[in-house]
Order: sequence, then structure tokens, then C-alpha cells
Amino acid sequence: MRQLLSTKSIKVLHEQESSGNQLRRALGWGHLTLLGIGGIIGTGIFVLTGTAAANYAGPALPLSFIVAGIGCTLAALCYAEFAAMIPVSGSAYSYSYATLGEAVAWFIGWNLVLEYLLAVATVSVGWSGYAVSLLDQLHVHVPAALSNAPLGVPMGSKEGLDIVRTGAVVNVPAIVIVAVIATICYIGIKQSAAFNAVIVAIKVTVVVLFILFGVSFIQTSNWHPFVPPNTGEFGVFGLSGIMRAAGVIFFAYIGFDAVSTAAQETRNPQRDMPIGIIASLIICTILYVIVSTILTGMVSYKQLDVAAPVALALDHYPALRWLGIPVKLGAVCGMTSVMLVMTIAQARIFFAMARDGLLPSFFGRVHPRFRTPSTGTAITGVVAAIIGGLFPVDILGEMVAIGTLSAFVTVCLGVLVLRRTRPDLPRPFRAPAARFTCIAGAIVCFSMMASLGTATWLRLIIWTVIGVLIYALYGYSHSKVRAENGAAGAASPAPSR
Ligand code: ALA
Repeated sequence: MRQLLSTKSIKVLHEQESSGNQLRRALGWGHLTLLGIGGIIGTGIFVLTGTAAANYAGPALPLSFIVAGIGCTLAALCYAEFAAMIPVSGSAYSYSYATLGEAVAWFIGWNLVLEYLLAVATVSVGWSGYAVSLLDQLHVHVPAALSNAPLGVPMGSKEGLDIVRTGAVVNVPAIVIVAVIATICYIGIKQSAAFNAVIVAIKVTVVVLFILFGVSFIQTSNWHPFVPPNTGEFGVFGLSGIMRAAGVIFFAYIGFDAVSTAAQETRNPQRDMPIGIIASLIICTILYVIVSTILTGMVSYKQLDVAAPVALALDHYPALRWLGIPVKLGAVCGMTSVMLVMTIAQARIFFAMARDGLLPSFFGRVHPRFRTPSTGTAITGVVAAIIGGLFPVDILGEMVAIGTLSAFVTVCLGVLVLRRTRPDLPRPFRAPAARFTCIAGAIVCFSMMASLGTATWLRLIIWTVIGVLIYALYGYSHSKVRAENGAAGAASPAPSR
């Protein structure tokens, strides 16, 4: 048990920062904020808003965005404290290694793979849908068999683990976009950040255009009743519907935490990390609340259960049809930058885990010329492309959510633990009202986890068992921290700090 609870010294984490394998420090708070927005605005706002409004929240959808935004803000404050205090590339994985021990760190690192790697795959599927529809509008037709998942869940068995063939061959656009993104990330963080900035500018412009033009087409009758009465089924409208919709659109917020994985490439992480994490989250929350208010005001929520709800609202008004193509283009761009940020994040998690010996060293190899974690990036690209080419968005999306939420819960608790065990550590940023922030953050995030389906929990259990096997067969015997702590333990049994 003592071995599994081995913690990694924060001093060692800092030392690793300044020795060997250095990544290029090229990013400031502006880049980080853009990286955050790049990771956040995507499938959630462009696709999931429609489902959430039509099936769960109705016109009260902005309230769901506020609820999920509060949960994410609490977690973001905790992330910001950690990221400023321990600015290393492993994010929640490294934070839990320093506070809760190796076993928890492995669990979180393994779940971050669920978040980042599967998010790349998930969003590639959403990207494929939008790109194909855009191409269609431009009279370039991609056959359905080559742009859909060949595997899916059988109708009416959303809670089971069964997988059936859909008749499609493979999702080619999903594979192509993952390959392009992985290549960009392989070449360099600076190039990735520049590419990301351009894309973020396009997608934010599109969102702002939607707000500016859409606002004068609001028909207030669409907001009545603001909270449609519950149908009798839990989560279908009414107050429980607002909560359930919050769980669905939580996906829209995922990404701000990815900022913290770029700590080693940041020039002044103590100052810039908290700014990047919190600013990107605040900007996106404001945009989400406004967009969802306008969207449900432009058309009845009952009409919004479609793959491209924002485009549908524009199509509803002939005067706004011209905005349809730019919005689809913006959505495609939005999803592209989400994949970019998630690929960057995943490669850096692999980098940190390999450096600690929990994964084979090639996962952490840094390219001699580009100074990027090139092998981790390539592995992320290949695996995400295979998964994105084969699976549908619904299975993948919930797995991403559960992986992310488990990391959020751990980070919230980790801040509290470290405030008690290491009150002496310099904290360039302190989460305000820490006890409340941490406990409320953990509770809200765990409640969202609890609202996810049984099948997702079963898949999480299977994923965890695979993770435990890998740890038992490889990580446990190769852990550098345990080896060092073991040596130190001969002199002193207390875990090193
Ligand atoms: N927040 C990201 C999206 O909505 C994952 O696509």
C-alpha cells in the first residue's frame, strides 16, 4: 500500500523542468487563452445544444450552460492553483502524483487518455459530419459508406455494451483530419499555436456573427414556457431536465484544462497558466449562454434536435441564409482546433507518464529538431484515427465526459489535500475560498458523472481493468519515483517531498 501511495516530490517535478528533454518555451498568456478557446468551442455548441434543448431543457438551456459552467469554473480554479504551483506538462496526472500517490496518478493519467485521445476521435466524427454536409452544399458528394462509422450501438439498447455493424465501411474524413492534425502537432508547438490562433479567430467570428445577426430575429414567444413542464420522466424537461441537459452540454466545456498540459512550453507559467485557464473558460461561458439564448429564441426548441442546430436556425429566416455556409465553415474550423489542442495535450500526458517510467520511454521521446513529444503525438494520431474511423459519436462522447470528470474530481480533492499537507509551498495563484471551491467542485463534477449512463460506467470499469493490468505488468516495476522513494525509504520511510 505504501508503494502504491508513493508521491512524487514537487522539488523533483520542478527539477525535471529545468533539466534534459526540454520542450520549447514559446507560449504566453495570450497563446494559452487561445489554446483554451481552441479546445473548448466545438462539437458541444455546434451540435449538442440542439439535442439538449429539444430533449431535456427547452428554452431553459442557458440555465444548463450556467450550471455546467459553475461546475467547470470551480474545477478551473483548482486547476489554476495547481498549474501555477506545479507547472509541468502532465496536468492532473502530475498533480495527483504529487499529492495522492502513484496509484491515483496512474488512474488519472489513464483517464486523461480517455479524455484527450478519445476527444480527438469523438470530434473527428463530428467534424466529418459537418465537413461532408458542407461539401455537399458545394456539390462535392462523399459516399455515406465512406463517411460514417461501421460500428454502432443497436437501436433501443443505449445502455448495453453490444456493438453492431452499421453497413458503412469506414469514416474516411475522420481519419484524414486526425492525420493532418497529428502532422501539424508533430512539427511544432509554435506552429500549432499559430495555426490554432487563426482557427480560433475564424470560429469566434462566426459565433459573434451568429449573435449579432440572430438577435434581431428572436421571437419571444419561443421562450414560453421558459421551463417546459416535466413529462413525468426524470430529466425530460422541468428542473431535472435542466440538470440532465447540463450533463449533456458539459462536453462543450471540456478543453480549458488542456491549457495546463502546455505548462512546460509556457514562458511564465506561474502567471500565465491561471490567466489562460480562467480567461478561456469565462469567454466561452459568456458566448455559450448568449448563443443558447438566441438559438432558442429564433426557433422553437422542438425543432432543434438535428445535427446542425445553429445552421437550422439561420435557414429558418431567408434573410439569414447567407450565413449558413460561413457557420458550417466556422464549425468545421472550431472542431479542427479542438482536435489540435487535444492532440497536443495527449502527447504531453504520454510524455510525463513515460518520463516517470509508468509507460515505455518511447512515449516520451522528444524530436531532436522540432522539440515536440513526437512519438507520443504519432501514437495519439494513429490510435485516434483508428477509433474515429470506426466508432460513432455517442459512445465516444460519454467516455470522454466520464474520463474528464474523474480527473476534475481528483484535481479538486488534490488541492484540498495539498493545502493541508504542504501549506508552506509557494502558491502564485490560490483558489478562493478553497474549502468550499474544492468540495463543491468535486460534488458538482461527481454528480455529473453519476448522471451518465450505465453502459458508460461499465466501459469505464473495463477501461480501468485494462489500465490496472498495464500498471501491474509494466508501470509498477518500471516506476522511477517508487525506485527513488524506495532507496530513500531505506533511510527514511516517509514519502519524499
Ligand atoms: N469542448 C469541446 C467540444 O465541444 C470538446 O468539441
